Amino acid sequence: TVLVVDYGAQYAQLIARRVREAQVYSEIVPGDTPVAEIVARKPAGLILSGGPSSVYETGAPSVDPELFRTGIPVLGLCYGFQAMAQALGGEVAPDGTREYGRTELALCGGSVLHDGLPQRHPVWMSHGDSVVRAPEGFTVTASSERAKVAAFEDPVRRLAGVQYHPEVGHSPHGQEVLRRFLHEVAGITPGWTTSSIIDDTVEAVRAQVGEGRAICGLSGGVDSAVAAALVQRAIGDRLTCVFVDHGLLRSGEREQVERDFVAATGAKLHTVDARDRFLDALAGVSDPEQKRKIIGREFIRVFEAATAEVAESEHVGYLVQGTLYPDVVESGGGSGTATIKSHHNVGGLPDDLEFELVEPLRALFKDEVRRVGAELGLPETIVHRQPFPGPGLGIRIIGEVTADRLATLRAADAIAREELTYAGLDRDIWQCPVVLLADVRSVGVQGDGRTYGHPVVLRPVSSEDAMTADWTRLPYDLLERISTRITNEVAEVNRVVLDVTSKPPGTIEWE
Ligand code: XMP
Repeated sequence: TVLVVDYGAQYAQLIARRVREAQVYSEIVPGDTPVAEIVARKPAGLILSGGPSSVYETGAPSVDPELFRTGIPVLGLCYGFQAMAQALGGEVAPDGTREYGRTELALCGGSVLHDGLPQRHPVWMSHGDSVVRAPEGFTVTASSERAKVAAFEDPVRRLAGVQYHPEVGHSPHGQEVLRRFLHEVAGITPGWTTSSIIDDTVEAVRAQVGEGRAICGLSGGVDSAVAAALVQRAIGDRLTCVFVDHGLLRSGEREQVERDFVAATGAKLHTVDARDRFLDALAGVSDPEQKRKIIGREFIRVFEAATAEVAESEHVGYLVQGTLYPDVVESGGGSGTATIKSHHNVGGLPDDLEFELVEPLRALFKDEVRRVGAELGLPETIVHRQPFPGPGLGIRIIGEVTADRLATLRAADAIAREELTYAGLDRDIWQCPVVLLADVRSVGVQGDGRTYGHPVVLRPVSSEDAMTADWTRLPYDLLERISTRITNEVAEVNRVVLDVTSKPPGTIEWE
């Protein structure tokens, strides 16, 4: 394991992902983790992240110099580089040398990290302070116009640092520099591959569950499907998957679970057809938050009833969840398994029904989850499914949700998705909600007749994390094909409009 010590960088997760791309397992630890605790985890290397502070500001996260006497190879990046310089007796100063963005790095030779790279190459900088004198024992290996000490190394103690950010895409040789630190400086043998992830996870699940039985809710999305597939591989038919069809899914999604997922994994599946129940509960409701509450509430009830049914015939001790590593980091990290108690007040579950959580994806980033899914043979449609909200089409019908309106939206959505796939754009867009403005009507003409139908909105967005988003500039001929097909093939829709709002101010979904 390589530990990324996080000094408040927006880049810590990115660094961990890059390390894993070099086939070395990596985890993030907070910047104030005591040295003894770090040593106890026996890391094969440490990477000190960048951070927003200045090293001599009061309250700036300091680096305990002991860290560099542990014998663990360390790479400092940006703030981590400066903190390393300061801790070892070098000098850092706010000498007015600010560098932001693309900068040219000039190598001075003698660098293991930069060996074989072009003498001058672009890197991404973002710093106000600079290292003005390297600590004793270090060789300065690179400089930039404004930073005389832009990189240093001490091959004897296996310590190195760079002022720039090798983890970002704007540093084109950055991945090679990280790789060289891991493999050449720290001497780590790469081995974190998709198949090793699968083997290790399967083994861990077996160790946790033993001869016990587990249950897993499938949503149709990638996380729950991959989590279930891994647990299935570990414990076979002692896993039961539960799939609630709430009627708010898109065209083909139930089949993907019932037919394709089952064919790929051999998992035991218990489908609950709750379409009528959800429609009844949603009748007459147009308020978005109200809809969300109702859908959430009904979902828990149905899921718990199904669970109770399964648990009645056999003791089920474990609940599988598709928690990912970013959720773990954001909720303060920590390992171990929590025990949750189901809400016995809503689902008629026995009072003593308690599950231990099984979280096979807890160590993984989304792209790793997708690779694992692909290697386990899950269908492409599930592995690369774009984000789809839990309340599904229920929050893409503006107005009351009815069976007819769902059928209309489902048909329009299927056409948009089909054309996006056909145009090869699935991986370029983050997601493309299709929204039915069910309470709006407009006049149109089709054939020789006047129509009075509803508009649908196309909402293609590009995003990294759904926190911010931009509307995607789809090719006009593609938009035209989607529009023509929807208005021809979906009788109730006579107008297709494009949402050109970024987020903020708009959200991605309309409700
Ligand atoms: P917004 O609309 O807030 O969406 O910009 C951001 C991301 O979250 C998804 N989303 C939801 N997911 N339950 C979910 O599971 C919800 O109620 C929900 N609302 C929005 C949305 O699809 C987008 O990816």
